[in-house]
Amino acid sequence: MDLKLIHSIGVFDSGIGGLTVVRSLMERLPFENIIYFGDTARVPYGVKSVETITQYATEITDYLLKQRVKLLIIACNTIASVAYEPIQERSPVPVLGVIEAGALCAVEATKTKQVAVIGTPTTINSNAYARTIHQNDPSIRVFSQACPLFVPLVEEGWLDHPVTRLTAQEYLKPILAEHVDTLVLGCTHYPLLKPLIQDIVGKSIHLVDSAEAMAEITAKLLQKRGLANPLRIPPEYHFCVSDVPFRFQTIAERFLGRSIGHVEVVKLPL
Ligand code: DGL
Repeated sequence: MDLKLIHSIGVFDSGIGGLTVVRSLMERLPFENIIYFGDTARVPYGVKSVETITQYATEITDYLLKQRVKLLIIACNTIASVAYEPIQERSPVPVLGVIEAGALCAVEATKTKQVAVIGTPTTINSNAYARTIHQNDPSIRVFSQACPLFVPLVEEGWLDHPVTRLTAQEYLKPILAEHVDTLVLGCTHYPLLKPLIQDIVGKSIHLVDSAEAMAEITAKLLQKRGLANPLRIPPEYHFCVSDVPFRFQTIAERFLGRSIGHVEVVKLPL
């Protein structure tokens, strides 16, 4: 058998938010090996410059390529929105970015052609979601809203806390005034706020979870390129971080809904 097939899928994020993508991959592709890198020493990326994010993302890419991954998934919306091209140019293996996944899902979901996107300030300022949505359907109107307080609130575990609810009501008010029918959760942390956000915006607004969309696109790509692992045995999961922050294990296990075992600390640049 070609050993490349059983090589891992490399998934990376600025911190632990990308584990929402890993969770979706585990559900959708239960026989694929996964290596995850979370840059917990340098998170958050969402308020950093394009140059800094590109430099950090390049270092992570090089590390994962050294682990001989067969596919790279940029699980972080912020990285994917500003550094997708440099990463792709560097990589001999296919690269998937979470922006593409969420944007395509929104284009398919909207009936009224009024779509809203929420994300970190860097993701929203990059306009990457609006650009990708317009490449697929120029007639869609896109409203964007940065929600910088959501990441720390999720990290704190305040998923249904009155403070989070008030914050969400404030951020989502301008979006509700635009009568959109689709709302893209354009940050890895936001799927954890899905029940709260759905409650605030109402059932008539479809929430796009980029993590789920990403798993679907990954499955298609593995199939198309003949890269799917043919072995039907329990896969190996390997978790790496650049620092072990306070409460890391608890938060990570909440993200994944399972225990994660040993976590390796990798200091970058190597
Ligand atoms: N992972 C980031 C994203 O999806 C959010 C966290 C950060 O600011 O680094 O945009």
